[in-house]
Amino acid sequence: MKLGIIGVGHLAEALLKGLLRPGADGPGMAPERIILSPRGKGPALARACGCTLAADNAALVAGCDMVLLAVRPGDAAAALTGLPWRAGQTVLSACAGVPIAALESVAAPARIVRIMPIIAGQFGASPTLVHPMMPALAPVLDAWGSTIALDHEAQFEAATTSAAIFGWVQALIASSADWTSTRGVPEAQARQLLAETFQAAAIMVRRTDRPIADLLASIATPGGITQAGLAHLQNRQVEIAWQEACDLVLNRLTR
Ligand SMILES: NC(=O)c1ccc[n+]([C@@H]2O[C@H](COP(=O)([O-])OP(=O)(O)OC[C@H]3O[C@@H](n4cnc5c(N)ncnc54)[C@H](OP(=O)(O)O)[C@@H]3O)[C@@H](O)[C@H]2O)c1
Repeated sequence: MKLGIIGVGHLAEALLKGLLRPGADGPGMAPERIILSPRGKGPALARACGCTLAADNAALVAGCDMVLLAVRPGDAAAALTGLPWRAGQTVLSACAGVPIAALESVAAPARIVRIMPIIAGQFGASPTLVHPMMPALAPVLDAWGSTIALDHEAQFEAATTSAAIFGWVQALIASSADWTSTRGVPEAQARQLLAETFQAAAIMVRRTDRPIADLLASIATPGGITQAGLAHLQNRQVEIAWQEACDLVLNRLTR
């Protein structure tokens, strides 16, 4: 299998690192099986990683079985237009908010699959959304982390909001770590503490089937510090603001 990448920017660089990185099951993908488009970071990454650099996007499509599309959403349809697509090829589009219908006519007879990875894929830690899932995608998606397959494109679109939530959680970690370090905790320890506290909260949610409300009730004891802070956040309508931000993102994705 040869994988081409059209749109070698910020996301593609992270995903390329994930593909090349050795995993628990063996070595990463051989760099010569990855063909990069010559725009953006393509030439520099081909030199640095040993990947093949295509002369142009037509040569890339001619030489690949699967193509990762990671251009800006507004460039997606144009980037696929006029290329030598053939039956049996798959385009993995990571372009946020770009529906399958907007791409399938320009890349026919290739099949369009939507994915939504995050840059944590470079460490094998991306929960990557996919629609529709096909077994042949597993080796590529597994290199980036776990796969969450959704049956309907509308579900996929709503779930894509998580790519923005990923950034907001980093902002929350930054804010909490800044607050902690202004109270005298050294910056490095504050950063480690808050990153690992958020990770620990996620592990608790992920590794048990108990309702999240039960987990929270078990630590937010009446009159305790967790409950006092939560009550303040609720009074300030933080949860409402958070969900409004999710609505805002989904509206942007579907407008
Ligand atoms: N960044 C993230 O964390 C993230 C996460 C999930 C999904 N995404 C999605 O990934 C896509 C890319 O985001 P990004 O942040 O990586 O953007 P980016 O850094 O701007 O990269 C986009 C790249 O696409 C190239 N490009 C544009 N048209 C092209 C064409 N016709 N042929 C070949 N290359 C072309 C650009 O090259 P030039 O520089 O030459 O114009 C640029 O290098 C977006 O659709 C976004 O929704 C991003």
